[in-house]
Amino acid sequence: MSPVYKRIILKLSGEVLRSDDNCISPAIVQEMSEAIKSVVDMGVEVALVIGGGNIFRGLSASRKGMDRTTGDYMGMMATCINALALQDGLESLGIPTRVQSAIAMQQICEPYIRRKAVRHLEKGRVVIFAAGTGSPYFSTDTTAALRANEINAELVLKGTKVDGIYDKDPVKYDDAVKYKEISYTDCLSKQLQVMDSTAFTLCMDNKLPIVVFDFHQEGVLKNILCGNTEAATVVK
Ligand code: GTP
Repeated sequence: MSPVYKRIILKLSGEVLRSDDNCISPAIVQEMSEAIKSVVDMGVEVALVIGGGNIFRGLSASRKGMDRTTGDYMGMMATCINALALQDGLESLGIPTRVQSAIAMQQICEPYIRRKAVRHLEKGRVVIFAAGTGSPYFSTDTTAALRANEINAELVLKGTKVDGIYDKDPVKYDDAVKYKEISYTDCLSKQLQVMDSTAFTLCMDNKLPIVVFDFHQEGVLKNILCGNTEAATVVK
């Protein structure tokens, strides 16, 4: 099977790193790194955006009384911790990586520089974008949509715990029906929360397809990149 995409952004929620007794599970980091390696080995250029919800969520904290901006900055720092965990996991498998942060932390990683990120990708390195957009009030979904447009990625892959988009919550409703493909406008009119609205609009306005898939399903990432999206939902 050969890939039909050359450059992609993979957005992973911080939650997928969590295990019952650990906010970052080494076993899950290993599992994720192996899945990402399988894609890199196909010759696809991969950039990653990881959330921070396994460690800290600014929005939830603000609902409990914390200043929203402070909470968001703490959340951005949480994404950096996850980025370093993934960097470590990938490099232990021999995959060269570069972490680029939207907030300067030069002792720890590179600053985000678009042209340098593209160069790293061209050289076969996985670029991990940390610290979100660097601004409060934005999500890591928005970071993925923004960076995808900036680096000319062909696809935003959103890895979650569910294997696609359903007409209603599949955890709560047995009769929930999965969409194989859905348009941006249908997502909006049916109020399907694929991403937050800023992220979604960025993808829609720039005709950037979004694929939602279950990251824990074995081999699914490889299949999607070879054009088989049966086990996922495509928004375009
Ligand atoms: P090329 O230009 O393609 O050679 O890229 P490169 O990343 O290998 O070269 P560079 O000399 O920029 O980086 C060498 C190492 O230093 C890499 O591991 C980078 O991630 C790291 N590095 C580069 N800039 C910074 C920085 O500002 N802060 C930190 N902490 N590391 C950096």
